[in-house]
Amino acid sequence: MTFEFKNPEIIDIEKVDSSPKPRPMQVGSEAARQEKVKTTSGQPITEFEGNANPYIDYESVDLLLSLQHPRSQGYDEMCFIIMGQAKELLFKSVYYELYNARIRVSVDDLPNASQIINRTKEMLLLLTKFWDVLATIRPEGFKSFRDHLNVASGQQSFMFRHVEFILGNKNKAMASVHKNVEHVYPAIQENLESPSFYDEVIRLLKKRGFDIAPECLDRNWAEPYKSHESIEKAWLDIYKDPQPSNDLYLFGELLTELADIFARYRFQHYTTVERILGFKPGTGGSAGVNWLKTMAAHRFFPELWTMRTDL
Ligand code: HEM
Repeated sequence: MTFEFKNPEIIDIEKVDSSPKPRPMQVGSEAARQEKVKTTSGQPITEFEGNANPYIDYESVDLLLSLQHPRSQGYDEMCFIIMGQAKELLFKSVYYELYNARIRVSVDDLPNASQIINRTKEMLLLLTKFWDVLATIRPEGFKSFRDHLNVASGQQSFMFRHVEFILGNKNKAMASVHKNVEHVYPAIQENLESPSFYDEVIRLLKKRGFDIAPECLDRNWAEPYKSHESIEKAWLDIYKDPQPSNDLYLFGELLTELADIFARYRFQHYTTVERILGFKPGTGGSAGVNWLKTMAAHRFFPELWTMRTDL
């Protein structure tokens, strides 16, 4: 875009408490709210003391909104930065859910695991919508700020990597991207070396009496996932009884929906990038869209896909 634009002043960032730690807050109660409403005539509180208000402090909103710094004169860079940051937040939310879904599966609690996965699906759908916003950036708009990324690339996102790893797409090279970041790498390494959410699902199939090969139940979890015929066979047996009373069948379908949405997310990244960059190399050193195209073919929970041929 070539018109003149302005970046509105919102916060004096010099005055923001820049600590990422939670700010002290008092805890309210139903009784206190009942008392308060008697003094407000039913209207919201409009006066606060100190240099913030409880809403700002609860989520450190002023700090969060002080972190958007376009580096170029390009209009679209603000959109790119905010979409990127919002996606990082959503990846964190997705990871939190999957981390807990893994625990629920490990104790055979499918009702709660399913509730968590349903929420995760909605978050991933929201993440796919971000590509529609990013696709409004046209080639010349992206070009206007691209050099400022230097070799920065989403491929270096540790939050995205956490999501990939917990779902089962392990990759040592992608983990080592973060090796030099001492406040990030230990959790990435732990995630790489732990059974994924899907590995726990496979262990559950074994606990439920399916004949799963021993090498699928205990292995070097940092190695890339390899499909196994004993797992495909277990899913096939489960799908022989496609009834609402068959909780493993319902869970298998839920996981397929989740994997399907993730595949759509990857596909939309790839098409958005082709639209904006064509076949230029990526900032992160890859061949760009052709590299993303190979990534887009990936499927989580592969046996749930391949066994469909035999249904
Ligand atoms: C619309 C603007 C975008 C373009 C043109 C773009 C382009 C690319 C390209 C070319 C790559 C290949 C790696 C490389 O850089 O060499 C890549 C990878 C990647 N990008 Fe983007 N990207 C965009 C937005 C985003 C956003 C907003 C995020 C998320 C915060 C993101 C996350 C990723 C991730 C996670 C990878 C690695 C993919 C994988 O490991 O499968 N991208 N991107």
